[in-house]
Formats: sequence, C-alpha cells, structure tokens
Amino acid sequence: MKIAVGCDHAAVEHKNDIRDYLIENGFDVTDFGINENQTIDYPVIAKQVALCVSSNECELGILVCGTGIGMSLAANKVKGIRAAACSEHFSAKYTRLHNDSNILCLGARVIGVGTAIELVDLFVNTKFEGGRHQRRVDMITDIENN
Ligand code: RB5
Repeated sequence: MKIAVGCDHAAVEHKNDIRDYLIENGFDVTDFGINENQTIDYPVIAKQVALCVSSNECELGILVCGTGIGMSLAANKVKGIRAAACSEHFSAKYTRLHNDSNILCLGARVIGVGTAIELVDLFVNTKFEGGRHQRRVDMITDIENN
C-alpha cells in the first residue's frame, strides 16, 4: 500500500518516526517533508498530501502538525478527501471503519510518538466496513459536489 506522509515544523520528529515505522512494516511511503531545520505553513503540505491521495497516487495519507487540526481543516478542502484529526485509538480505528477516512491527522503537541505510531498502525490496517456506512459517506460526497 502506498502512503503519503507530511508535517510542518511542529512535527518533524513524529513524521520521521511514523515514516520509518511504515517503511519497516512494508508500506511504500512518499515523504512530502518537511525536514529538520525547515519551517512551513501547514496548508502547503496538507494540500500536497491531499492531492496525492485524491489522485489515487497514494491510498492513504498521514499529516502531522502541532494539533492535527490545521492539517485536517486544510486537507478537507480538497475534493475526495476525508481527513480526521484523532488523538486516541477508538477514533483512529472507527474513522476508517465507518467514515472511510483517507487521511489521518495527528497533533505532535497532543500525543507522544509512541501513541502516534499506534494510531497510524490502526488506521492503515483497518478496512472500511461499507454497507450502511457507504450511504453516509456518499452523502458527504453529495455535500462536496452540490
Ligand atoms: C504551528 O505553530 C501550529 O500552528 C501548527 O502546527 C498547527 O498546530 C496548526 O493547526
């Protein structure tokens, strides 16, 4: 599975550890940066990762900023993106199962690297349940289109 990762200057260590964890576990990772000693406004990276996912170049994305919220707000402006800011396990799992979320947003100032990696692991290894949830996801797409 191809996964896009990206962060702003508040979250470089989290992003790098998440990237390394995913690579070690056999995922094909595209790293949109940034790296140490750089700064960037989070919408720039959110857009790059969101476009990578919405174009199906990558199946899922992981975005990390200070809170996870700025990244999710920006990524959700891209058509086809369902980005969820999560800070605990239940939400990271159920946003895949029920919402078919395709980007997980994390806050480096909210959770430690260990928890972040556990949430990433749950997110990338959980499949959308479909069924009655498909209808609701389709309703979100309708809002986006109309
Ligand atoms: C950067 O200082 C910070 O505002 C950003 O990482 C993020 O938390 C925004 O939502």
